[in-house]
Parts: sequence; C-alpha cells; structure tokens
Amino acid sequence: MLDAQFTPQVPHTVRLSDYRPPDWLVPTVALDFDLAPGCTRVRATLTVTRNGAHDRPLVLDGQELRLLSLTVDGVADATQPVGEHLTLRLAGDTAVIETLVEIVPSANTRLMGLYASGGNLCTQCEAEGFRRITFFPDRPDVLSTYSVRMKADARAYPVLLANGNMVARGDDDGGDTHWAEWTDPWPKPCYLFALVAGDLQPLRDRFTTMSGREVQLAIWTAAADVPRCAHAMAALKTSMAWDEVHYGREYDLDVFNIVAVADFNFGAMENKGLNVFNSKYILADPETATDADFDAVAAVVAHEYFHNWTGNRITCRDWFQLSLKEGLTVFRDQQFSGDQGSRAVRRIDDVRSLRAVQFQEDAGPTAHPIRPDHYIEIGNFYTATVYNKGAEVIRMLYTLLGEAGFRAGTDLYFERHDGQAVTCEDFVRAMEDASGRDLTQFRRWYEQAGTPRVGVTLAHEGSTATITLTQTTPPTPGQPIKLPVHLPLRLALFDRASGARIGDERLVELTEATTTVVIPDVPTRPVLSLNRDFSAPVIVEHACPAADRVFLSAHDDDPFARYEALQQLALDTLSAEGPCDDLVAALGATLGGDDPAFIAEAVLLPTEAFIGDQAAVVAVDAIHARREAVRHAAATAHRDAWWAAYRGNADAAYAQTPEAKGRRRLKNVALGYLMATGEREAEVAAYAQFENANNMTDRIAALSVLANSDAPERTAALAAFYDRFKGDASVIDKWFSVQAMSSRADTLAATIALTRHPDFSHNPNRLRSLVGAFGVNQLRLHAADGAGYAFLADQVLSVDPVNPSTAARLMTPLGRWRRFDEGRAALMRAQLQRLLKTPRLSKDVFEMASKSLA
Ligand code: ARG
Ligand code: ZN
Repeated sequence: MLDAQFTPQVPHTVRLSDYRPPDWLVPTVALDFDLAPGCTRVRATLTVTRNGAHDRPLVLDGQELRLLSLTVDGVADATQPVGEHLTLRLAGDTAVIETLVEIVPSANTRLMGLYASGGNLCTQCEAEGFRRITFFPDRPDVLSTYSVRMKADARAYPVLLANGNMVARGDDDGGDTHWAEWTDPWPKPCYLFALVAGDLQPLRDRFTTMSGREVQLAIWTAAADVPRCAHAMAALKTSMAWDEVHYGREYDLDVFNIVAVADFNFGAMENKGLNVFNSKYILADPETATDADFDAVAAVVAHEYFHNWTGNRITCRDWFQLSLKEGLTVFRDQQFSGDQGSRAVRRIDDVRSLRAVQFQEDAGPTAHPIRPDHYIEIGNFYTATVYNKGAEVIRMLYTLLGEAGFRAGTDLYFERHDGQAVTCEDFVRAMEDASGRDLTQFRRWYEQAGTPRVGVTLAHEGSTATITLTQTTPPTPGQPIKLPVHLPLRLALFDRASGARIGDERLVELTEATTTVVIPDVPTRPVLSLNRDFSAPVIVEHACPAADRVFLSAHDDDPFARYEALQQLALDTLSAEGPCDDLVAALGATLGGDDPAFIAEAVLLPTEAFIGDQAAVVAVDAIHARREAVRHAAATAHRDAWWAAYRGNADAAYAQTPEAKGRRRLKNVALGYLMATGEREAEVAAYAQFENANNMTDRIAALSVLANSDAPERTAALAAFYDRFKGDASVIDKWFSVQAMSSRADTLAATIALTRHPDFSHNPNRLRSLVGAFGVNQLRLHAADGAGYAFLADQVLSVDPVNPSTAARLMTPLGRWRRFDEGRAALMRAQLQRLLKTPRLSKDVFEMASKSLA
C-alpha cells in the first residue's frame, strides 16, 4: 500500500466560478473554552438552518481537531470527520449541533487558530483559522452571533477577553481558576472571532462618539510595555474621530480592546471589538521606535479600526472579494495618514512601496487581478496587489467621482449592505448608482492583472499642443489578451520661460487604446506634467528630454510631480552610461529647497531593485556600480550643502511632530550622502551620532550606514547596539536587518552566521528581519554563484513545516528568475525545483513554487 502522505498530490484549486451560497446557515454560536496551552477543550453549540430547499448535508470544516463527542439535537452521533470535513445529513430544516474537541495551542506553530505567544493565548482566524478551533462552515458568508465562555488558570491568565462586551465573570475552585462570558451582538463571519487569555495590563482611555455614546478603550500588553502604548492609543482616538468626520461612521460597541502579541504572522487583525496586533505595530517610544515605526503604528491602528465598517459591518461574500475590504481600508488609512502630516510625502511613500512590491508582482509569475479568480491557498493572496493596487483602484474612483460623488457612493454602500457579506461588484454598483456614472469599463481593473503602460507624445504647432496617449497592458500568466482600462490621468502644461502653469490642471479619462488631447492657446512649446499625484497606477513611457525633467523638478506645482521628475531623471541617468551632470545639478537645486521632509524623499536615488525593474535583464553588479558612482558624484559635488543639511537639521530636542520628523529624515539622508563621499569625517560623524543619539531614528540611521561600510567603528557599533537593546525584540530585529541589508561582500556569510545566533528564531518578525531583509538585498541575494538563492531556499525549507504562510512569503524573490541572466535564472529555477521536490511541502509553498516555474 502507498502511504497517502507520501503520494505527491496536486492540491485542490478553488475557483470563483464555483461559488455557491452556503447550504446551511448558523444564526447562533455558543463556545465554551477550557483553556490550557497543552490541551484546550472547546465545546461548540451551533444552531443551524437549512438555506433554501435542497437535500445537501451540512459540511463543517475542521483541521487538526480531536473530536471527543458530537450530538445532533441532543442525541449522540458517531459520525467521524473524513479528511478536513465533518459531514452531517440532517432530516429537518433546523438543528442544534454540539461538538467537543481538543486542541493543543502550545503545538500550534502556524499561528493560525488558537496559539500560545509569550505565555499568553490568542487567536488568528482570518482567513481560515477558525476551523483549527472548532468544526464550522469556515467561510465569510456565514454570519452568526456569538456568545463565548472561557475558563482558565487565574494566575497564568488573569485577563480573559473576547469579541463584544463582557457580561459575567467569576471564580472556580476557590479562585485557582476563573471564567468570563462575552457576547457580541453583531452577527459576524467566523474569521472575525477572537479570544485572548493572558497576563496583561491595560492602557485605558475613553472616546465619546458623535451621538454621545462613551466607549471604553483599552490596549493590553505586558505590564512593562504599557507606557509604550500611548502613541497607539492617541492614533486610535484620532481614527475614531476621523471616520466620523470623513465617512460618517460611528463605533458600535461599548468597548474596544486591542491586544499586542509578539508572535504574529501579519501586521494586525480587525476582530470585532478585539483587535489583535503584532506588537511591532503597537509599542513605540522614542528610544526604541523610529519615526517610520511611529507612522506605521498610527497607520495600522487606523487601518484595523476602519475595518469595523469596511470589513466587519460589511464583509466579503467569499475570499476572492478580499480587496473589497482591504483595498478600500488601505485607501482609507492612506487618506487618514495624509491628513496627519505632509500629504505629498505620504503619497510619495505609498507610490514608492507600490512600485517596489506591487509592480514587481504584476510583472511576475504570480500576477493576479485585485479580485483573483482562483487560488490554491488563500493565504498567498494577502498581497500588495489585493491591498495596495486595490487601494489605487479605489483612489481612481475617488478621482473620477470627486470627493462628494465618492462620499455619496460610500454612504449608499453602507446603507445598502450593512450586515451583509458582499462582492466587489456590489461596491462598484453603489458607486455607480450614487454618482450616475457608468463604470462598466472601470470594472476591468478588478479582472485584469498587469500594470498598464501609458505611452505619451507631445506635439506643438502654431499655438496648439497635442498630446497623444496610448495604453497597453502586457500579458500576464493566464491572461494573454488585455483590454483598455478606464483610467484618470491628471496633467498640466507649463511655460518654459516663466516656469508658470498654463491654465488649470486637467483630468483626462483614458478609455480607448489611443486618446488625443488638443490644448489651444499655447504659444510656445510647453513642458508636460503627467500622472500628477500618481492619479493612475500605471507606468508612463514618455521620452522626455532631460531638460524637461530638470524643469519640472524645479517648477511643477504638484509636489509629487516634482519628486517624480527627479526620480525619472535619476532612472534615465542610472540606466545609462555617461555623464550625470544634469541629475547632480537637479539634486543640488532640490537640496536648496525649504521643506526638509520633501527634500529628503526627493533626493533619494531609486533603489537598485527599482533600477533593475526598468531593464529587460537585471544587470546586478553593473547597477550597483553605476548607482554608487552617481551617488559619489552627487555627494562630492554638493559636499558642503550635505554637511549644511546634516548639521543644520541636527536638533538637540526630540519631538514627534511632522516638522521635527522631516528634519531628522533630511539629516539622515544627508548622512548617507556624506558617507558616499568616502571622507573619514563622515564616518566619525556617523559614529558620534550613533553613540549620542537620543532616539532610535538617529541611532539606527547611523548604525545602518556604518553597517554598510568598512569604517573601523563598525564592529564596535554593532556590538554596542546589541548589548544595549538585547531583550527588546523589535530593536533586535533592526539589528538583524541592518546586517542583512548591507552591500558588503561578506553579507551572505554574516547573514548565515546570524541564523546561528541565539536570538534567531522562527518568530515571523525575526524571520522577516533577517531572511526577508536579505531577500530584498539585490546585490547580495543575486550573487552570481547562486549561494544567496541556496540560502533562501534552505530557510524556506526550514520554516515550511513550522509556519507555511511565512515560508511562502520568504520565497517570493526566487520567483523573479525570468528577469535575470540565464546563469542566475538557472540557479534560481534549480532552487524552486528543489523546493517542489520536497515531500510534505505545504500548499502555500507548493502554490508559489509551482506558479513560479510555470
Ligand atoms: N485582515 C488583516 C488586515 O488587513 C490581515 C489578515 C491577514 N491574514 C492572512 N491570512 N494573511 O489587517
Ligand atoms: Zn486589512
């Protein structure tokens, strides 16, 4: 007999076209947990009702559950699960199903379902983790009201939390154990279920909603970390008020709890009334968190809070609709963050990460539309495409409909679909109905993968400017033919002599393959500013003279367009040989501006990875050498200005204000350029900054330039940093990262050595900080001998049996083999084949590896 476990099996593909409404609904659920890390018993009482006239059985999902007993309407039933399903044939139209199962949280290394983290117990159910807690129809279109009872050791787990409101609590066994009961009045899909038991302390606060209801807020963490929750709490209150003002959305429970945990696969989770966070996105103080960390905490707190309406009150019908909640919620958190500081800088940041991650995804083997139509493992579809391109698609609707039209659309969406599990189509229809605009063609954004390319030519004759715009989307796997999409392009013309804008900005809507825009009354050949504020997520192909880019980098009145002009000039320069004087001069001019936060972003050269993305074949070493040479030229040409920017922005006082953050950012960008001069003085300044910093932004910036150098202080600085912060996981993550990201020749050896460091572990943050960071180090991952690829695959194989969803994420860089020379491509493919040959590979890694090789 063949052992089924060793039979190579191609996992099942789930298809959108196979969607059918649930056969059975579950109006109410009662859960009773007897909690202990080594053995937890879960009793679940489900009322089920037949959904329509049919005779199909009730099929419950269950994974790694030991079924101890089952009753149907109070009568014991001997049915046993087969594979991951428990199938019950029920005679009537309603029934009460009671199961008792046993699970082992301490052995749950996948961090899906109920698991142990830092001595506490917590849950993660999205997307399909609830089936690891109890037998249930684990799909988002089954909405139930939950009541939860839990019992646990009172000393180990003094705090017992679940969704909704606590309704009762008490002691058992003379106080050795205690229990609590929670009910959540809002029907929800099981992926929003949450429970936490632990030794936690709260940071408490209150918020009064627009209708005058008082909400008790608490952020729960280890006692020592409570003071580090203040920034997250402030962000929560700001988000609650912001959603009332901008979307008319009020919070709907009397309590809102957040718990920070150290072991978490993602950023955070929007469970109803009980958000669970990766502690990286809650804890922040100046000593240990950078300015970017502070901003990320606020953005993620806002994101999860905003899900209360876009995700929880209105949820997804099926997981293909994930962007319905994620794209919309990312758009909302981006708007929110833009309102907290510089909108332009935030936009630059969002576009930079879209291009770095999502454009690569769209150009690679796992390209998928924001609404995918098939998957093997849904965990692989929590992608930059679904989240960030999804947000860009929502932003385009906002641009096309205008602020008022868009708000009318969201109002109608909330009114029409509150309490429902719906589709992206329902969202677009609400936008259409509220605005009266026909969005038929716009819907292609939901179906087509790939980044559209917009070609541009500008002609000028007499006093007429004619702009010809073409659009094409390259083929992606499974989608050879692409149709034109409906996209909004903001554009403006500038007068070369005066530097002034000619007339108003225009919003041009492309719908055809070719669009011609004729602009009269333009006496001399103008300069064209296109895709302003990045109005559409496209690649603009405009053979624009360097002089025009230089002009726009100085005169455009849209800050994003100024940034973009300099970036494109830099890309043109870095992708070619020859002199770089135009770029160096334009950088110098930008450096002379008066907004430090903007200058700091604008003068950063594109990354090696982004330069590589522009070419048919990524010339790994040549790109690095060219970029270093240009950096050196820009550094030495403006040496005095960099020193002035460095010294002039070195405030003694520390503040978390946009102004102070902008000055720190510019100072640290200047330090990077100063290091590129090769002057000893820069190393001395970096080490002094490292030693004397009163905040993590400055300290890690200095450590990172030292780690990237041969400075004599390098080793001492790394050692001092470790000693100072050992025991603080999020800071030690940074210590691992700066070493894995170094361009030094010994980086791979150092990274491998760090996997043997006592602090290295399979904690997801730690894995990302070392292996994930190395994976985006283009120069060292892509060493010509393939050693970087072998290391990455080794790590994937070591993590896969423990935590497949994290393993699958770590391997993404290997999928990009088509973009490299044949030697490297063959080495990358060999590692993917090695992964695919491994017995008992997870679905997660199987899907990524097989799609990458296809
Ligand atoms: N819904 C969560 C958020 O966006 C993320 C959940 C991630 N789940 C997953 N299986 N990748 O905030
Ligand atoms: Zn989300």
